[in-house]
Amino acid sequence: MKVHIIPEPNRITVTDKIVFELTGLCNLNEQKGCNKAFSELTGFISDEFCIELLGTGKEEIRLSLDEALTASESYTLDITENLIEIKGADEAGVFYGVETLKQIFLQCEEKLPEVHIADAPAYSYRGFMLDCGRYFFPKEDVMKFIDIMAMHKLNHFHWHLTEDQGWRAQMLDNILLTEIGAYRSHTNFGVKPHGGFYTKEDMKEVVEYAHKKCIKVIPEIDTPGHTVSAIAAYPELSCFERNLNVATHCGVKHDVICVGKESTYEFMFSVFDELMEVFTDGIIHIGGDEVPTTRWEICPHCQKRIKDEGLKGTDDLHPYYLSKIAEHIESKGSKVVMWNDTVKEYMTKSSIVRQLWDEEMSESDVVSQINKGTEFIISFVNAYYLDLPYGQTSLKKCYEYNPCYKGIAEDKKNKLLGVEACLWTEFVPDMKKAGYQIFPRLGAFSETAWTEKDKKSYQRFFEKLPFYEYMISSYGMNFAKEKEALPKGLRKLGSLLYWERRKLCWQGLHNIIDNNKVKRKYKGEENK
Ligand code: ACM
Ligand code: ZN
Repeated sequence: MKVHIIPEPNRITVTDKIVFELTGLCNLNEQKGCNKAFSELTGFISDEFCIELLGTGKEEIRLSLDEALTASESYTLDITENLIEIKGADEAGVFYGVETLKQIFLQCEEKLPEVHIADAPAYSYRGFMLDCGRYFFPKEDVMKFIDIMAMHKLNHFHWHLTEDQGWRAQMLDNILLTEIGAYRSHTNFGVKPHGGFYTKEDMKEVVEYAHKKCIKVIPEIDTPGHTVSAIAAYPELSCFERNLNVATHCGVKHDVICVGKESTYEFMFSVFDELMEVFTDGIIHIGGDEVPTTRWEICPHCQKRIKDEGLKGTDDLHPYYLSKIAEHIESKGSKVVMWNDTVKEYMTKSSIVRQLWDEEMSESDVVSQINKGTEFIISFVNAYYLDLPYGQTSLKKCYEYNPCYKGIAEDKKNKLLGVEACLWTEFVPDMKKAGYQIFPRLGAFSETAWTEKDKKSYQRFFEKLPFYEYMISSYGMNFAKEKEALPKGLRKLGSLLYWERRKLCWQGLHNIIDNNKVKRKYKGEENK
């Protein structure tokens, strides 16, 4: 008999012999430390089979921890005569055993064949990022993503909470960030206003929900770029106290926060302090991507900071600022993650985890930094940005990408923490579009995150697609059809052309005109 599991377990045998039948008489026994798995399984059995387990029969489902399992998050699942036994190295391991069992139940219903699985993740970091800055996704949608992550055995939810187009995380000490910064007058091609934000209670609820599913939450406050919404709320954050509106269109903006003024640091420290009260997993993302230095070049505060700190120029301000922010966060006990953009890597603290997305850092740069001890997460744009059109990143391309960096020293291999799939939402306004972009690519991604490289098989994954679609449809999510996910000919061309319409939101011309305006108005102030 064949059973399909996504992501593919590392070792699995299934026979044709039916050995277990789920009835209301079944016993469900949990050992200490298996509570999350227990809740997940009882919830599933009740929802799927409308059964409350009485525990008076001979069939038993047993959940326990096993010290003999040494790899963290690993588990074994054995279905034998009247017994389903799941053992985990830790509570996450047992939880993943239950996630696998749920998939077996979905295919076999009450009557299960003999199964033996021994499974462990390929990477300790298996992430998914949702951009809630461009479009606001209500907390119920966010929780649905968390359920879906758990199904794929992903364990880090990277919550991109701020963007030029919207600040979503309520900050009680700086309340205008959401009162003003959470709303834009219209969207890229739309005429309707758009907005929304998460209260502190909402964010705590999401964190608590994620913890039940063995998922850590990493909030991202993106600085010093992508901050027009913050500047709209507090113009003093910018170099020239410009009165801006929350951005309506996508594209890289030149109004970034002023990293010369001391007040900026005080403001950002207070934002991150409030953030750390809510997000208790001890990992904070500080962004750091796409930061033009145009304003800093003519800002008296930024120029003074360069002089006072003995920096070489505006390029140094970026790593200088991020290092100071990181130092503050680290002093409060959290680990810091940032995108790989900073030009002067040598100036940025090596304790900061780098999230690689573009090709600016060469493979040899990555390897050399890892060998020096810097940790990396790989979100390579052409494979793991799930907002890209299928014409550019087909399902197959996403599946077949492996973050293989040659030359990493043996004792530094664990510095490549893992992989993360990202859903940017410039052009993803709702769950319908989100589903189309993510599925089936998230399943493909999850097999790189979880399954050992030599056990991956695109052909086998392809065969699992009907079952995968069936599972995803139970979340009410959209799923790209085979011809869409693997486009050919005109469909592929169409997908690429449709994607290119984003160029209509190109900021280049606007930036050139606006930069001239700012220069005319403020040039010369740096010499005052
Ligand atoms: C990014 O895509 N700007 C991290
Ligand atoms: Zn400045």
